[in-house]
Amino acid sequence: MHDVIDIDDLTAAEIRDVYELTDDIKASPEAYHDSLSNETLLMFFAKPSTRTRVSFEAGMTQLGGHAIYFPEDQSQMSRGESLKDTAKVLSRYTDAIMARLFDHETMVELAEYADVPVINGLTDLLHPCQALSDVYTLREHGIDDGPLAFVGDGNNVAQSLMQLCATMDIPCRIATPSGYEPDAIIQDRVADADVTVTNDPVEAVSGAKAVYTDVFVSMGQSEEKTDAFEGYQVTPELMDHSDDAKFMHCLPAHRGEEVDAAVMDGPNSIVYDQAENRQHVQKAVLHRLLAD
Ligand code: CP
Ligand code: NVA
Repeated sequence: MHDVIDIDDLTAAEIRDVYELTDDIKASPEAYHDSLSNETLLMFFAKPSTRTRVSFEAGMTQLGGHAIYFPEDQSQMSRGESLKDTAKVLSRYTDAIMARLFDHETMVELAEYADVPVINGLTDLLHPCQALSDVYTLREHGIDDGPLAFVGDGNNVAQSLMQLCATMDIPCRIATPSGYEPDAIIQDRVADADVTVTNDPVEAVSGAKAVYTDVFVSMGQSEEKTDAFEGYQVTPELMDHSDDAKFMHCLPAHRGEEVDAAVMDGPNSIVYDQAENRQHVQKAVLHRLLAD
């Protein structure tokens, strides 16, 4: 493993290895307390974050290393410094870069210019660290044989999930409003897998063992789009079509918008397990990138 910017950068064997290492780190965190001593992670953010920032930063501390929070608006890039110069210089100071950016192409360029590993902490197109943690969570709950249903916007979170389901042979059903389907390029990449895309939430959820949703309005998007999502809220009635499914959400959640509070706070919700696993899985990724 060098960069983690796209699930398709990873093989199924590498993902299984990360999950086995995650099991060990989660069971015996003290055994890894010095594994990244003197290593520094640069965390570059062009968008807000709660989970990604804190799970990576505390994760580096727990591995004996250090993390630097570096918001774009406090960098010289906000005054016109080039991505190339920024990536080259940061690579001289630090051991890895985790970035949250708007355009995915900028992430690809960052990885090309950087001389250290680059981890994608979300772009408009993909959120691979989220998907890796989500499938680890499915595995922990014994439901990684699927089907996994996703209802909502077919953008970054859904797109990384469908890629990872395809890699790990997990049946995946995506339901989006018309016009919010996953990118055609991502759909093409999973064309040979058991991944279906529909505009019908009931069809997607029927028989599912996990039902997943994400915000209707992603960071940087206009609030006006929410009208298109009427009928795509995850409600107890929609969950009744599933196979007693667990409820999943990458968070942040908006009760009363993409999910009914009764589902979000109900007995089948595993959203906090997902959030916790961000940290365990990312520690395993950091260990593989920096300690080996
Ligand atoms: N799920 C997720 O990436 O959360 P943050 O936006 O808080 O980092
Ligand atoms: N789709 C959401 C995910 C947040 C973690 C967004 O891009 O804002």
